[in-house]
Amino acid sequence: MNDVVVRALREDEFRAANALFYAALHVKPPTDEQWERVRDVYQPGRVLGAFDDRLIGTARSTDAELVVPGGVRVPLAAVTGVGVRADRTRRGVLTSVMRHQLTDFADRGVVAALLYASEGAIYGRFGYGIGTRFRNCTVLRHRARLRPGVPSGGEVELVTSLDEMQRRLPEVYDRLPLRPAMITRGPRWWPGLFSMLRRQDGAVAAVVHHGADGPDGFAVYTVDRNAGDGGTMRVLDLHYADASSYAGLWRYLLSVDLVDEIQAHHRGLDEPVDVLFTDPRACRTTEVLDEGWLRLVDVERALAARSWRGEPLVLEVEDTVLPDNAGRYRVGPDGAERTDAAPDVRLDVAALAMIYTGGWLPSTLVNAGLVTVADPATADRLDELVATPSTPWCGTFF
Ligand SMILES: CC(C)(COP(=O)(O)OP(=O)(O)OC[C@H]1O[C@@H](n2cnc3c(N)ncnc32)[C@H](O)[C@@H]1OP(=O)(O)O)[C@@H](O)C(=O)NCCC(=O)NCCS
Repeated sequence: MNDVVVRALREDEFRAANALFYAALHVKPPTDEQWERVRDVYQPGRVLGAFDDRLIGTARSTDAELVVPGGVRVPLAAVTGVGVRADRTRRGVLTSVMRHQLTDFADRGVVAALLYASEGAIYGRFGYGIGTRFRNCTVLRHRARLRPGVPSGGEVELVTSLDEMQRRLPEVYDRLPLRPAMITRGPRWWPGLFSMLRRQDGAVAAVVHHGADGPDGFAVYTVDRNAGDGGTMRVLDLHYADASSYAGLWRYLLSVDLVDEIQAHHRGLDEPVDVLFTDPRACRTTEVLDEGWLRLVDVERALAARSWRGEPLVLEVEDTVLPDNAGRYRVGPDGAERTDAAPDVRLDVAALAMIYTGGWLPSTLVNAGLVTVADPATADRLDELVATPSTPWCGTFF
């Protein structure tokens, strides 16, 4: 099938796209009041619809910036709201939408696209690769004693009004140093978070951490009271500037009464939560999963934007969806540029996305057959080339 027409939707069509997306996720559509709060996440010009004789598929994006290894920020399309009517799936509708969307990103000078996938098998074919991973962990509160050497942190301030949180948290986030793979949270991101928070059954609370130079971290959480004494705290969002604010936030979370366990989900793999405690097993990692799926839309600019280590290598990149990206690139500490030289490494654009952030050791991908190198020594050089000082994590769900 391919007489599907894909086009940007008008603003008066956004609600239909939202209803289609929610139905695809088996979620009730928002009420009129909820829609008024959430409609701002729909950025005009960035909402696509696929039609036969009616709307049958949709995807949207918002403009943001991605921090790449080395600290440079590049234009990012944060992709979400992807859905196809259940009676029109597996006929190429998503394929038409994705191709249209990626071509539009390339035409507009977007360097990378990022999304969170409902299922792992969907997006690799469009050149998205797992750029970051997260872990879910559960802290057994009564067993978790902070080690004596844990930084003391500053003051925390409790905020219980959602309106006040919605005013203040964006200012705190904007002050934080963003690590590689983190993204900016524009004014179209926050209404989505607060729409989710307003739908929570229980009370939502936040704490802002104040360090020597002002607000430098925050955590948002709810507590589900189980039958009996204790409850389960769910940490819904937590960001921090440094080790002191991180420790200060955890010190607070552990102090909240009527809580037996703290579920901290979607956390960075290198966050030191277990080693804060005298008994590291007070923190149980329950799951490690793919987080952000990254698509390098402009490979040349993406390679030039990040920092590299060691000796240069020539990468031959394959990209069947955006063929202008295909070709050879010499990449090294002095930068990246196109070349005709013989390749040291061959990979497709999805595998390139996986190593681009530093989230995967390239030699792991060589072993999995995703990256081809001439010999083991080249794999070692590739590991060194992409090495980053921290494990990438996005931490902003959309
Ligand atoms: C995921 C979804 C958007 C796919 O739409 P679609 O129109 O069926 O996708 P396409 O027909 O273009 O599929 C393209 C290819 O991807 C495969 N594919 C699509 N969705 C898949 C899935 N969920 N699991 C495995 N493979 C999938 C198709 O089989 C097809 O493979 P082929 O080219 O080898 O035949 C649709 O199934 C949907 O709306 N799902 C529920 C909501 C959802 O999960 N949205 C994504 C949020 S991140």
